[in-house]
Amino acid sequence: MSKKVTKIGVLTSGGDSPGMNAAIRAVVRTGLYYGLDVFGIVRGYNGMIEDDIFQMNSRSVANIIQRGGTILKTARSKDFFDHEGRKRAFANLEKRGINGLVVIGGNGSFTGALILSNEFGIPCIGIPGTIDKDLYGTDFTIGFDTAVNTAVQAIDKIRDTADAHDRLFIVEVMGRDAGYIALHSGIATGAENILIPEVHTSIEELIGSLSEKEKRKKLVNLVVVAEGHSSGGANEIAKYVKQHLPNLDTRVTILGHIQRGGSPSCLDRLIASRMGYYAVESLIEGRHNVMVGVMNSSMLYTPLEIAIREKQRISEDWMKMVKILAS
Ligand code: F6P
Repeated sequence: MSKKVTKIGVLTSGGDSPGMNAAIRAVVRTGLYYGLDVFGIVRGYNGMIEDDIFQMNSRSVANIIQRGGTILKTARSKDFFDHEGRKRAFANLEKRGINGLVVIGGNGSFTGALILSNEFGIPCIGIPGTIDKDLYGTDFTIGFDTAVNTAVQAIDKIRDTADAHDRLFIVEVMGRDAGYIALHSGIATGAENILIPEVHTSIEELIGSLSEKEKRKKLVNLVVVAEGHSSGGANEIAKYVKQHLPNLDTRVTILGHIQRGGSPSCLDRLIASRMGYYAVESLIEGRHNVMVGVMNSSMLYTPLEIAIREKQRISEDWMKMVKILAS
């Protein structure tokens, strides 16, 4: 029988994503509602190791639901990879009596949580917070909706100028290992080609497709590529296109970190609030080392080791649709 959770810590870790503040707010207020002491851990696992931990109250999370970034700050901690680092981190939790942890982040953050839990027995709940939407066990990750809408707004603007000059734009969006931002924003802006890490498309195939459209006199003006695509990204593709299709007037735009900032969308605030609330309820009910997700509108709890190991698959139907709609 696991010990009753009375004091919880909350942290954000890895790349920030819009809506993390809404999740922190939900964790803090739900914890207080159930009579728990709630502690904020600053800069993710770094703050845990360096003892940058403070007690939070309801006012600590006032006026943050609409703000991007994370009031707890975030980091990718190297020291937490070492057992010594984790030992120091756990000692800082233990001395405050913190006996439950909510980790808001992505794959790497959950891996850290699971190792800490296995070594020291502290129960951890993961909340999926990443713009990449690459976690198994949830239809949504906090920040994806805002990020993809930022990308769509930017690409729409690029299309205006592309159309005015009859130019080809290669637009690079974020996603080191995952192509969801590219796929969704590319479909929503009517991109002629979408290149993502999960689906092998060689640069020669891209050239073939662009030149075939050029021959048909189809106005080709938009390729969306995820930064992690095997081509090496927008600049590499543009070099190749300029060599092989010199008649196309080609330009590159890399959207970059603009996709990580900004006020979260309604959807991101909503899922962050729900996930934060259910994360605390899960700890209280003794559901440990799971990630809270939303699938088909219902809450789903996926063991952290499965959320870390498994990949979300991109349906072949989507890729077929992309080809048909761009023809
Ligand atoms: O994981 C989110 C993400 O924005 C990725 O899409 C991107 O590859 C990476 O973080 C960038 O990380 P950093 O801000 O550390 O350069």
